[in-house]
Amino acid sequence: MKGIVFTEFLDLVEDNFGYKVVDDIIANSQLSSGGVYTSIGTYPHGEIVQLVMNLSRRTQIPVQQLLQIYGKHFFNVLVKQYGHFLKAVPDAFSLLESIEHYIHVEVRKLYPDAELPHFETKRLDALTLEMVYRSERKMADFAVGLIESCLLHYGETGVVEKNNLTDDGTVVQIRIKKSA
Ligand code: HEM
Repeated sequence: MKGIVFTEFLDLVEDNFGYKVVDDIIANSQLSSGGVYTSIGTYPHGEIVQLVMNLSRRTQIPVQQLLQIYGKHFFNVLVKQYGHFLKAVPDAFSLLESIEHYIHVEVRKLYPDAELPHFETKRLDALTLEMVYRSERKMADFAVGLIESCLLHYGETGVVEKNNLTDDGTVVQIRIKKSA
């Protein structure tokens, strides 16, 4: 995974829980990187899993909730860094429908080694979008946070529901019901 996923995560942990907790979760994880990341580097996905699980142990906040909180934060990081990709996208559903064939395609041009999920989308009606998340990295909760922030970014409100289609969380249905 790209270093930006790690550097932004550790910054968020430090802002919310202090440097001691950053130190502790790094010390309690087996990290081939030693816990030193650059935003453009590439690191094993397993390292972010360990860091999030150790933060959950340390704070008693469930992993699912931490990934959602981090997804919400990460969307704003992406808007700051890659806002130009969103300029021509008029609303939240259009952005979510464009991830597979536009947004993440542009990301892959920038970072050919980026590990990105796949999304199939279906608009069930004007206010409901169904997405199917597919990824070996099982980060659907991170996607839920990104989607919630995406709605906020466009000044829209709605409910995001997640439903595992496989027990291991590699295939997950996500339904977004917008308020009228
Ligand atoms: C709400 C819209 C978005 C959703 C739901 C989404 C979903 C995701 C998810 C779930 C991952 C984690 C990897 C995985 O699960 O396999 C990811 C990674 C990533 N996404 Fe997106 N994404 C969105 C928008 C964007 C935008 C707008 C950008 C930038 C222009 C972007 C760039 C990236 C990058 C750089 C990574 C990390 C890849 C890596 O570490 O190798 N995403 N995205």
